[in-house]
Amino acid sequence: MRTVIKGGTIVAADRSYKADIAIEDEKIVQIGADLSGDKVLDAEGCYVMPGGIDPHVHLKMPFMGTHSADDFESGTRAGLAGGTTMVVDFCLPSPGQSLLEALEGWHAKSQRACGDYSFHMAVTWWSEQVFEEMQQVVDLGINSFKHFMAYKGALMVDDDELFDSFQRCAAIGALPMVHAENGDVVATMQQKLLAQGIRGPEGHAMSRPPEVEGEATNRAIMIADMAGVPLYVVHTSCEQAHEAIRRARQKGMRVYGEPLIQHLVLDDSEYRNPDWDHAAQRVMSPPFRDKSNQDSLWAGLQAGSLQVVATDHCAFTIDQKRTGIDDFTKIPNGTGGLEDRMPMLWTEGVNTGRLTPNEFVAVTSTNIARILNIYPQKGAILEGSDADIVVWDPKKSKVISPETQQSVVEYNVFDGREVTGLPRYTLSRGTLAVDDGRVCATPGHGRFVKRAPFGEVNKALSKWKEVTAPRQVVRKPENMPACV
Ligand code: URP
Ligand code: ZN
Ligand code: ZN
Ligand code: ZN
Repeated sequence: MRTVIKGGTIVAADRSYKADIAIEDEKIVQIGADLSGDKVLDAEGCYVMPGGIDPHVHLKMPFMGTHSADDFESGTRAGLAGGTTMVVDFCLPSPGQSLLEALEGWHAKSQRACGDYSFHMAVTWWSEQVFEEMQQVVDLGINSFKHFMAYKGALMVDDDELFDSFQRCAAIGALPMVHAENGDVVATMQQKLLAQGIRGPEGHAMSRPPEVEGEATNRAIMIADMAGVPLYVVHTSCEQAHEAIRRARQKGMRVYGEPLIQHLVLDDSEYRNPDWDHAAQRVMSPPFRDKSNQDSLWAGLQAGSLQVVATDHCAFTIDQKRTGIDDFTKIPNGTGGLEDRMPMLWTEGVNTGRLTPNEFVAVTSTNIARILNIYPQKGAILEGSDADIVVWDPKKSKVISPETQQSVVEYNVFDGREVTGLPRYTLSRGTLAVDDGRVCATPGHGRFVKRAPFGEVNKALSKWKEVTAPRQVVRKPENMPACV
């Protein structure tokens, strides 16, 4: 069976050009003019791009006494509906739990994924056992380790643990990631606000100001530099954090920043909405920021100081959010976005001239494929790459609504926004998941994607650290003072 995508303009991170694409056995086998096949997909008037990769999702995540509502089936279906063909979830061992045991649990719950997926491993506690198991986790195809600097008393690790774990990552060729917020300061601010009688969702944002994120981002960067390892900062939401990343990169440090589509387009006025449900549904960490931060994030994507747009998709139902009805610290943190990331970014980025189509491909797919060391299997339209492809119709419009979304929650933080630019077709390893705009994803089609350690940046950085390591000065006896 040979599928051909005909008549479109291929948009890669580095260039755009007109060509057809032939697919056989889940792979792109040929790119060229006038190709023919058994099945033809009409891409006339469309851009043909690598499927999106969302490197930050939480599907059925155990968190704050509940589980996020979308599972691997509804979550990956939502992704495919919006042109995202791969997601990376976070495996979270509970404190004291074996990483390998937790990983088995994550593999079990991802069986019905409609599109491809991978996992980051979280380091939620520290011991000799965790140190040892990190190598085994790498051997099982996971090359990234997440650290929470927030959520004190739950997922948070502190600086000695960060430093130990980062050094371990350096040794095994892995990439450490951080949720950068100062968890100690947040916990104190939360108590202070509650004591002042501020109990509504607005208190959530007040307890986590940009300084909390800027400080932690800078701290993680310095610790990573001392450990000699690259660093990936998730959900960079504000200028303070972006500034730390930008400064580090200008000094030659290998640091990556990941704004979310939510922070690029939504702001903290949401928390002042008179409707409690509306405000609580927007509670996530870091919170939405003052609008001025959005310009910084967009500029970072343009300048290359920020590399990836993700969602941190972690959706909770109205009832789940209401757990925090009289205490904002009990509102489950998280918002959805998987289905909307690509259409929203196209609409707010490409249609406004803030991003070129090539930059769009870079920040939704190619850059993260490189960072996670799965390029060009993923993130590319090249012969031999997986046929994860989105045929993007730049004229197709819709108004985002929970009525028509794939996520199981009853609301959408982008509700009412019009997007222009949507998938005509989405292919997951050559199989149609969106057919002429209609979602037809297959549960169980998704496969776990293994990621090898020692990506190019890890190798280069450890070489550099070796070359510049402290060295003893060996002195001849005649150059020593006579008394010794
Ligand atoms: O509020 C959020 N972001 N929830 C998901 C967990 C995390 O911190 O990424
Ligand atoms: Zn400690
Ligand atoms: Zn986080
Ligand atoms: Zn997250």
